[in-house]
Formats: sequence, structure tokens, C-alpha cells
Amino acid sequence: MLANRHILLVIAGGIAAFKSLDLIRRLRERGASVTPVLTRAAEEFVTPLSASALAANRVYRDLFDLTDEAEMGHIELSRAADLVVVAPATADLMAKAAQGHADDLASTLLMATDKRVLLAPAMNVRMWEHPATQRNVATLRKDGTLIAGPENGPMACGEFGPGRMAEVPQILEAIEGALGGTGPLTGKHVVVTSGPTHEPIDPVRYIANRSSGAQGAAIGAALAAQGADVTFVTGPAEVAPPHGVKVVPIETAQEMHEAVFDALPADVGVFAAAVADWRVAHGSEQKIKKDHRGNAPTLAFAENPDILAAVSQMTEGRPRLVIGFAAETEDVVTQATAKRVRKGCDWIVANDVSRAGGAMGGADNSVTVIDAEGAEPWPRMPKTEVAAKLVARIAGALA
Ligand code: C5P
Repeated sequence: MLANRHILLVIAGGIAAFKSLDLIRRLRERGASVTPVLTRAAEEFVTPLSASALAANRVYRDLFDLTDEAEMGHIELSRAADLVVVAPATADLMAKAAQGHADDLASTLLMATDKRVLLAPAMNVRMWEHPATQRNVATLRKDGTLIAGPENGPMACGEFGPGRMAEVPQILEAIEGALGGTGPLTGKHVVVTSGPTHEPIDPVRYIANRSSGAQGAAIGAALAAQGADVTFVTGPAEVAPPHGVKVVPIETAQEMHEAVFDALPADVGVFAAAVADWRVAHGSEQKIKKDHRGNAPTLAFAENPDILAAVSQMTEGRPRLVIGFAAETEDVVTQATAKRVRKGCDWIVANDVSRAGGAMGGADNSVTVIDAEGAEPWPRMPKTEVAAKLVARIAGALA
């Protein structure tokens, strides 16, 4: 899958840098070529010689090294690659990238590249959770940067929590997803919605639903594995978004609507999110206080935009294939068939979310795929298999 692909691997200064040496080996085993770039701080953790020996390539070390510039300028270096990977990505390098600084070779490459950038963050849990880092992560994601990890677990500094760099197999998976490979969906842009939405009542309360985001995440991963360029618009889901996709995190239905239209044009739209049909009409700026005389508040609702219907009914620039989901608790196929026509989508994936159906939050799903030709019931299977089968059907329809 990575044969003849060229990775520019920026190694920043963190204890996880030792894993990057293994990453170089695994990339080469898969046929990729690697050009390592070491920041000055990285050289405190790994030597240029070991990176160079494993990559069987020269290592670039500093922007102001005249020999480097004479041999290959930073612009060329950043563009000769198919993908730029930063592993480990430190809090400092992420801050620079988010702000657009270019004061050393690593940050200049990130500014100059015209290729996708994948970051594998690694830092102390408090640094990861710091609002500044979270702001930078959100900015980078918005700019289209891919982020793999970090993982939860014990850290070199003795603390526990998110911040450990993703393991090498996960980074490889993200790299394969980002490069898209040569799957049948290479070059196709797919917008996927996933997870629940949160509709605020006041600053501390919201209305949500039981969607875990598992089916949407599995679809996003399966699409990326087949080469698609995926924009993954997700509400606050329990399940982490897949690697190798562009993640756009949102909270409300209105934000999801805006994010989907911002992401268009697309070849395919897959609307797997459980979007709230209504929002609270007059959300309160202040926390609603308990009334000690026992009067419960009354909430008024306003209808949310129907994203699936809006995209399905576009008169210009409509995706070739628009797929909706229908969570039903009774008469699943009849209801979903009517819904397909009402919304105007091409296919609808119907599932039984009654207690007996158990689709919401569970690992398995039993769906019926409905199109203009009729209804095709699929046997009960894991959500990952539903995703793979659906993606194969999508590839077939576009072929
Ligand atoms: O009408 P209902 O919510 O049952 O339709 C489900 C389908 O419509 C799902 O594909 C869901 O993602 C989509 N939907 C949407 N925007 C809404 C409501 C539902 O995209 N506001």
C-alpha cells in the first residue's frame, strides 16, 4: 500500500522520538521512502545518524544549514513528499504550526508544503489538556491537518492520561488512510456525518441522544481505507474519530449543517449522524434556576435544519450519491422507504433501534439498505462489516 510513496518525517523533541525510529523501519518495510527531519530538540533524544541509517537517506537538521539549503531548499523538500508526518508532534511545534510560525526547518516545512500533514502528538497529559493546546488542535484540524492519537496511558513522566504518542501500527494506519493508496475510491471526496448532536438548554444542560458514533466512525474508516478523501463531521461521540480522515468536530445540528455545506462539493454524502430534530428555541445564557415553589420550566422548541434533505434536494452541485440513515422503532422498512422518498436521498440504511434491535451503542447492527429498486435486508453483523459492505456498494455505484 505504501510502495513508492515518499514520507517526509519530522521528528520533534520528545521522549516518544525513539518510536519514530521504529516508524521509519516499518515505513520502509512497506516500500515507502523516508526523509527524516530532526529538530534541534529531537537530537537530544535520537541521533541523526540512527535516523539516517534506518531511513537509508540523508537527514535534514536545520533551516540555516547552508549545505542543506544548497542541496534541496525547504520549499522543494516539503513538496517532494507525498505526505508530511510529524511524530512526535510536541506542544511547541503544534503551537507554531497553528500560528503559522516559520522560524526553524520543521515549522517552515509545515508552512511551505502543499501536501497533507499528519501529526502524532506526544506530550504530558496536562500539556495536552491545556486550553492552549486544545485550541491549537482545533485550529489545525480546521486547517485540514490530520491528527493521530494521542493515546491514554501511563507516561514517561509518571503521570497517567491522554498524551502518549499513538503506537506505530496506528500511525501507519493513519498514514495509509491519509495517502489513500490506490483503492477504488481514490480521488473521491466523501462527507460523512456521525454521532449525536448536543442542543443546549442553558450553559450546563443540553439535549442529546444515545448515538455512540460507532457506525459513523466505522464508515469513515472503511471509506479512507478504500482511498476516499473523507471529511468527517462529528458530534460529541463516545467513539474516537477514525484515523486518516479530516475531522470537523461540532456540537449542534446547526453547526453540523454549516460544516457539511462548508465541506461541499463532494462525490458522496453519508449522513449517519443522529441529528436532533429540534433545538431549544430560546436557550438561556444563564443557568436556569430551580423554582422553590415547585414550578417546572417549560421549554419551547424550534425545528433544526434537515441536513440530509437539504443536501439531497440541492439543485446545483449535489453529490452523486446521497445516503441517509433511518433509525426506527417500528415498521422499519415501510417507514424508511417513505423517508427515502420524502428526503430525496438515493439510498437509506434503515436500522431497528427498538430495545430488541439494540443498534444504538451496540457493536452489531442489522440493517436494510433501501434504494429506488427496493429493499435489501442484510444479516446482523458487526458495525465494521456493515461499513465495509456499504463502502463496497458505494464503490460499485460510482464505478
Ligand atoms: O428524519 P430522521 O431524523 O429519522 O432521518 C434520519 C436521517 O436524516 C439520518 O441520515 C440523519 O443523519 C439525517 N438527518 C439530518 N438532519 C436532521 C435530521 C436527520 O441530516 N436534522
